[in-house]
Amino acid sequence: MDIVSFITIVFCMLVPSFQASMAVDSILLSNSSVSDSMRIVSKGGSFELGFFSPGNSGKHYLGIWYKNIPIQTVVWVANRVNPIKDSSVAATLTLNATGSLVLTQNDTVIWYSTSLKQVQNPVAELLDSGNFVVRDGEDNNPEAYLWQSFDYPTDTLLSGMKLGCDLKTGLNRRLTSWKTPEDPSPGDFSITVDPRNYLELYIMKGDSKFFRTGPWNGVGFSGSPELTENHIFDFGFVSTKYDIYYYWLSHKNSSIISRYVINQTEEARIRYVWLEDEENWEIYTQKPSDHCDQYNLCGQNGKCVITGSPPCQCLKGFTPKSPQKWSLVDWSDGCVRNKPLNCSEKHTHKFMKLEGLKVPETTHSWLDKTLNVEQCRQKCSENCSCTAYTNSDIRGGGSGCALWFGDLIDIRSFASGGQDLYVRMPASELEFGNNKKLIMIVAIPIAAILCTVLVGGYFIYKVRRKRIEKSKNAQVEIQSNERDDLDLPLFDLPTIAQATENFQENNKIGQGGFGPVYWGKLLNGQEIAVKKLSRISELGLIEFKNEVKFIAKLQHRNLVKLLGYCIEDEEKLLVYEHMPNKSLDFFIFDETKRKLLDWFKRFHIIIGIGRGLLYLHQDSRLRIIHRDLKASNVLLDDKLIPKISDFGLAKNFGEEEIEGNTRRVVGTYGYMAPEYAADGLYSMKSDIFSFGILVLEIICGKKNKGFYIEDSTHNLASEAWLLWNEGKVLELIDKNIEDTCNASEILRCIHVSLLCVQQNPDDRPTIGSAMLMLESEVALPEPKQPGFFHGMGPPKVHTFSSSQKECSSTNEMTVSLLDAR
Ligand SMILES: *[C@@H]1O[C@H](CO)[C@@H](O)[C@H](O)[C@H]1NC(C)=O
Ligand SMILES: *[C@@H]1O[C@H](CO)[C@@H](O)[C@H](O)[C@H]1NC(C)=O
Ligand SMILES: *[C@@H]1O[C@H](CO)[C@@H](O)[C@H](O)[C@H]1NC(C)=O
Ligand SMILES: *[C@@H]1O[C@H](CO)[C@@H](O)[C@H](O)[C@H]1NC(C)=O
Ligand SMILES: *[C@@H]1O[C@H](CO)[C@@H](O)[C@H](O)[C@H]1NC(C)=O
Ligand SMILES: *[C@@H]1O[C@H](CO)[C@@H](O)[C@H](O)[C@H]1NC(C)=O
Ligand SMILES: *[C@@H]1O[C@H](CO)[C@@H](O)[C@H](O)[C@H]1NC(C)=O
Repeated sequence: MDIVSFITIVFCMLVPSFQASMAVDSILLSNSSVSDSMRIVSKGGSFELGFFSPGNSGKHYLGIWYKNIPIQTVVWVANRVNPIKDSSVAATLTLNATGSLVLTQNDTVIWYSTSLKQVQNPVAELLDSGNFVVRDGEDNNPEAYLWQSFDYPTDTLLSGMKLGCDLKTGLNRRLTSWKTPEDPSPGDFSITVDPRNYLELYIMKGDSKFFRTGPWNGVGFSGSPELTENHIFDFGFVSTKYDIYYYWLSHKNSSIISRYVINQTEEARIRYVWLEDEENWEIYTQKPSDHCDQYNLCGQNGKCVITGSPPCQCLKGFTPKSPQKWSLVDWSDGCVRNKPLNCSEKHTHKFMKLEGLKVPETTHSWLDKTLNVEQCRQKCSENCSCTAYTNSDIRGGGSGCALWFGDLIDIRSFASGGQDLYVRMPASELEFGNNKKLIMIVAIPIAAILCTVLVGGYFIYKVRRKRIEKSKNAQVEIQSNERDDLDLPLFDLPTIAQATENFQENNKIGQGGFGPVYWGKLLNGQEIAVKKLSRISELGLIEFKNEVKFIAKLQHRNLVKLLGYCIEDEEKLLVYEHMPNKSLDFFIFDETKRKLLDWFKRFHIIIGIGRGLLYLHQDSRLRIIHRDLKASNVLLDDKLIPKISDFGLAKNFGEEEIEGNTRRVVGTYGYMAPEYAADGLYSMKSDIFSFGILVLEIICGKKNKGFYIEDSTHNLASEAWLLWNEGKVLELIDKNIEDTCNASEILRCIHVSLLCVQQNPDDRPTIGSAMLMLESEVALPEPKQPGFFHGMGPPKVHTFSSSQKECSSTNEMTVSLLDAR
């Protein structure tokens, strides 16, 4: 080792002369000093130590920066809180006899280091890693440092540094941002390990938690599933009796320079890589990186879904603690259980599996790396205050055990990657799911009983329905079923004529089976959609009014809302709220617009439609069969919440019975159940068929052309069925959701849709069962062949009027068929 001893160079800072500055490989200081113009260069030439002055601050600091990078990038500052303000007198760095580095100016100590022990012959050296170290010159172990700058990081973590705790010395190595780019004094942001938690890092803003990485899971941090092996660096988290720390290391062979920094301006921890060609630092990773990274945004027992609108949701089985605040997008109070855990019944408790998560904060957690997941479940289930568990290490199928106690904090879900979490639930919250599971297992071999069992399931569902509804994050609003003092506004014709500019053709926004729909604007500014029921004049006034009242009573988040009606001069008008996003078909069948619907949005749309249908079939007193469920009858509000429209009309003008036979078939090709199209037999199960088709269309972004098309490859349902049997059904999904998708969830939805479109109505699930299948993990029976006809040709069509075309520019029509028998 080239050692230059006893160097004392004093240089005036007023005339800094880099040419004159001295650069040496390493330095041994002993009762000697380095002055302000002097630079110490590490042996391999990577780093340099000396004095610098950031920007126009006029203040001087002792620091370390990259030697070969043209943009001065300081990685460590010695006297960050105590700058040298007056540069008229030279400052000197001295390694004194007892092994302390002492920075002085005019005999005033500005900064000094401590030494683990006093030694005879201390030496100081800047290593090529950027670590400035003091050693005992007599010690043969070159790594027995008496002091090292790596133990006192500034805002930068270099390769080989440790971010975290030395439990023997109590030293907590944390990064703290510079206050400003011109002021290296400690800013508000820091990144640190909390030794009470297991294997997590926090970004703090002042004393508040700002971002949590999520616990280390053997591969990475739970909150950064995207960051895995890469060609630039390795990283890890060490937790022993003596140490808890995060570290990263450049790949041995990699010449790529990288640094990990906390930056106050960016309010983030950023990893940069140096781009040699562009002579620039490029951001490689950054945290927090989106809204959902904000610490505990959704409160206790909530989870953040970045694609959600709003992003915060309660975990299943929980509802907002303060619904009022929640609806005003203040989620801080989080969620509470629908049904509290009763510890006297702890042995009946079950665990609900949640997938794809950043697992909750580990402050009140317990970790045992030796247990497997089964033992972990056991352990959790024995202690009633244990609320959740999962594998602590996800490698090789998972091992280790992490238990959570109390509320679950700061959870988010990821479109891909993320961890499983098993949350303790009262049996009754999941009971129905298990009943169904049993039912399904029985149902598979004994197809004959399937129908009966499903009917049974339906009744069980009826009984449980209230509770399940409650559990749906308070999203479902059932109101006024029982309210009889209904005062639905009666609009007068001039008002509506004015709003729609005399039913101007330009204002026509749709054409339903019973008449055209117009956009309009009331004098108070409210936008409305007016449906003109031109062809129901045969209906008596009283019946019409009754029907209107009855429709008005159907109030549900997923049904379009009737605002009022109008009867005048043979005109019968229904006034609805206007939906700015038009209907679902505008999105899913449009090349550009469907890009706006990622999988999470689509899934929520599917669930929303299902809830609307559930309400029509089971929750409303009158059990309405929609008979024309299709993409163009599903409207989307500004938050893309689906609203079924045209509800009740089919029932309204049809027969009285719930399951029956009609001479007049109302519906739309492609959505019509075969028994309905062919025999006029309608039931809730024919709506289920349409629902199944709709779900397929939403997932695939393709239109089901209709059952009558002979070439069955043109039929979405049959194509799905064929690919399903080959195990390749994912080939059919819209490529826009391929990336963002949760394949198992998509598969489940396709599976359910195939069950809904089965040929035999009795094989199809009720909407209650279908919703349960979509929203939980009950076992699903294998679907049978979907219902469609071959070689039948288009049935005879009787059109009501000349303007049957939907405005959606598709080839779809609501039609009325004559009895096909
Ligand atoms: C350090 O140097 C000063 C003068 O430069 C001298 O007076 C002092 O004795 C030295 N101390 C040691 C321990 O060498
Ligand atoms: C070296 O500096 C440290 C820190 O200023 C001080 O505590 C120690 O007494 C000094 N040792 C000598 C020999 O001056
Ligand atoms: C240096 O220290 C001496 C004695 O403490 C003081 O008189 C002088 O003003 C100081 N010089 C500067 C530039 O601070
Ligand atoms: C933080 O980031 C900003 C913007 O990227 C940059 O201008 C600034 O110099 C950085 N601050 C520090 C202290 O490096
Ligand atoms: C480094 O590169 C050399 C030559 O390219 C290769 O043989 C060696 O395996 C590499 N080592 C590592 C650790 O990647
Ligand atoms: C808890 O369960 C026990 C046994 O089933 C029951 O007696 C008790 O009333 C329950 N407590 C509450 C608060 O529900
Ligand atoms: C359950 O776990 C909590 C938290 O670790 C602990 O305080 C309590 O003693 C445990 N109870 C039992 C019965 O083991």
